[in-house]
Amino acid sequence: MTTKNILVTGGMGFVGSYLVDELIQRGHRVRIFDNLDPQVHPNRELPDYANPHAEFIQGDIRDYDALKKALRGIEIIFHKAAAVGVGQSQYEIKKYVDVNTGGTANLLDILVNNKHNIEKLIVAASQTSYGEGLYTCAEHGTQHPDLRPDSQLKNAHWEHRCPQCNKDMSPAPAPENTQRICHTIYAQTKTHQEDMVLNIGRAYKIPSVALRYFNIFGPRQSLSNPYTGVTAIFMSRLKNGNRPVIYEDGIQSRDFISVHDIVQANILAMEKSEGDYQAFNVGSGIGTSIKHIALTLSNILGTEHLSPDITGTYRQGDIRHSIADISRIKKTLGFKPSVSFQHGMEELVEWGRDREAIDGFAKAQSALQQRGLI
Ligand SMILES: NC(=O)c1ccc[n+]([C@@H]2O[C@H](COP(=O)([O-])OP(=O)(O)OC[C@H]3O[C@@H](n4cnc5c(N)ncnc54)[C@H](O)[C@@H]3O)[C@@H](O)[C@H]2O)c1
Ligand SMILES: [Zn+2]
Repeated sequence: MTTKNILVTGGMGFVGSYLVDELIQRGHRVRIFDNLDPQVHPNRELPDYANPHAEFIQGDIRDYDALKKALRGIEIIFHKAAAVGVGQSQYEIKKYVDVNTGGTANLLDILVNNKHNIEKLIVAASQTSYGEGLYTCAEHGTQHPDLRPDSQLKNAHWEHRCPQCNKDMSPAPAPENTQRICHTIYAQTKTHQEDMVLNIGRAYKIPSVALRYFNIFGPRQSLSNPYTGVTAIFMSRLKNGNRPVIYEDGIQSRDFISVHDIVQANILAMEKSEGDYQAFNVGSGIGTSIKHIALTLSNILGTEHLSPDITGTYRQGDIRHSIADISRIKKTLGFKPSVSFQHGMEELVEWGRDREAIDGFAKAQSALQQRGLI
């Protein structure tokens, strides 16, 4: 691909920064637009991994004029800036809607009302849009259940039950045409972002792609942000001599994907036109239990004495399992996850070993408790 002028919103964050590095490595000219949100970047300090070859504009996605300036001369946009935190979005409602939905509205409004040369617009979407994914009953086939009822959770019956025979169901990978059912403000705003980008992309013929990330892990995920990223939160707990806290029974699972594979998906979406105007799952296709995450980290860190604290309590709105069906992105874009779970965890631990980690878990937990969300 010839050299392009590329804007990465949220380019100082976890995903954005790795993408910036890869784009620069490939010879592109990169501009970052990021407000250095203090929840991610304590004291609004520039992260030590900030790429010196990228131009940096410190600005807020909610600031129409600043964003308009940042878009000058840009040919490709990666829109990653967002407020990221499922539980937190349930009480910082206005902020999440303003930053995520409102920020995307700014971006699209600027594009359609001004001259531009945008060849591609790629938005970070999320698996949270599916709510509960798919489940199968051996006898009655595939189901897409609603959240588990309180009455069931109060009895610590964690698995989904088949609506017909009441037997426990097992998780199944969700393809992109799974109906999206949002249970949190975060999920709603991520769905908005995706739909807004694809709608305006189609209407104005701006090739646009939505990448629905599953649970991303890797170095650079903030170790001091207790609102998002279970692997980073557990690392932070363990490094501070605290036990990782696990809700339910620890068998709930997520699809973990290395940040390097997320970068791979973004590059493919940029370089290939076959994915234009579509949404893609980006995951590993493998479910891993939350307990396994805690034990693996402890094992690599050598903190086995800090066994997970499995509370048997639950958070409002939490889903039980989540697994991506990645057939579409494999077939259309040639995506192939390349980092194994074990290798990715080792890389994370290696990076995090000497880094400061402020364990804010108790604060984040009490914010939910005070509101009756745990
Ligand atoms: N990490 C995951 O597991 C995951 C999963 C699904 C989707 N996503 C999406 O991927 C994208 C990147 O996530 P991440 O994990 O890198 O998060 P992150 O918090 O590390 O990075 C987000 C970046 O956006 C910036 N930002 C926040 N609010 C802003 C604002 N108002 N104006 C400008 N910049 C702002 C932050 O300073 C930060 O540098 C987000 O859109 C997120 O919703 C992430
Ligand atoms: Zn059944």
